Amino acid sequence: MNRFERPALRAMTGYTFGEQPQDGSVIKLNTNENPYAPSPAIAEALARFDVATLRRYPSPFAQGFREAAAALHGLTADWVMATNGGDELLRLLITTYLEPGQPLATTEPSYSLYPVLAAVQGCPTVTFDLEADFALPEDLGARAEAAGAGLFCLVNPHAPTGRLFSEGALETLLSQFSGVVLIDQAYVDFIDEDQKAAALGLIQRHDRVLLLRTLSKGYALAGLRFGYGLAQPSLLEPMLTKTRDSYNVDAIAQALATAALEDQAWAHDNWAKVRRDRAALKAALAARGYEAPPSQTNFLFPTVPSALDAATIKDQLKAAGILVRHFPGALGQRLRITVGTAEENAALLAALPGAP
Ligand SMILES: Cc1ncc(COP(=O)(O)O)c(C=O)c1O
Repeated sequence: MNRFERPALRAMTGYTFGEQPQDGSVIKLNTNENPYAPSPAIAEALARFDVATLRRYPSPFAQGFREAAAALHGLTADWVMATNGGDELLRLLITTYLEPGQPLATTEPSYSLYPVLAAVQGCPTVTFDLEADFALPEDLGARAEAAGAGLFCLVNPHAPTGRLFSEGALETLLSQFSGVVLIDQAYVDFIDEDQKAAALGLIQRHDRVLLLRTLSKGYALAGLRFGYGLAQPSLLEPMLTKTRDSYNVDAIAQALATAALEDQAWAHDNWAKVRRDRAALKAALAARGYEAPPSQTNFLFPTVPSALDAATIKDQLKAAGILVRHFPGALGQRLRITVGTAEENAALLAALPGAP
């Protein structure tokens, strides 16, 4: 035991990572990465990068990236903040907007990093169950308000269920809850074209809403560690000027992230492939007795047939070189399966036990 560690930290456990084997032969369907290599524009930007410039600190606010993101979203650069992965933005939000002791509110289930980051700040997490069909309860915001929460973190489209909440449902939450609201859009790129919900209207209407974006999923750049926030400048300002590390995103990452956003043709083509393979995988899983709810993300959350045990199947798949995610507890009969390439999905289906 380390007697110098803060008591609040001693009492908590850290985040449980999905397995990250470095051996390329494993089929990784466990951490919602993109199964395809990133845009060729990334390799070109890396080749063009002038290493001599590394002797200088990078642009402190990632200005080139902010301008590229602003152009993409029809905003100005002061509505954009670049971070070292979306996870850094979560940490900044919590350290900026939650007083130690003040609760963070989220749904159950949700992204399991939120309670960890809250605990580091000395804040409890209050959770509210989703409805049986994973919809948001009508009085969700009112219950978070009554619990005294200062920040509501909502994943949309939702992880791990894949469900997309409507803008109307988010407005209802905002009408009942008076604190800061994070809409975590880590999976927004995979929403069907006819349901695309950028939620930019929400940040235009509310000065206490922040949208989280990441290049980890839709741009196939999880290893780069690059995310960004979109919000009114007044909401970003304390994070940009006070809580953030001065140079939180490095020069190479800034250059590559900018190149990624600028290749929208690659991005749209990639998202269409993932959506196509998501539909095919969902149907094939259902045919084997694994029913998954509709997903607007790059993963599915099927229930395993009742005669089988989800944790055992996860282990059997692992023995066959295929990783998927299992969360013990109330949703323990489900597996969370990232949509892979068509070949990876076929290998999964071949290895998956059917209902007896
Ligand atoms: C819901 C959700 N939010 C945010 C993130 C953060 O992603 P990153 O830090 O890679 O940008 C993830 C990553 O898995 C996620 O699932």
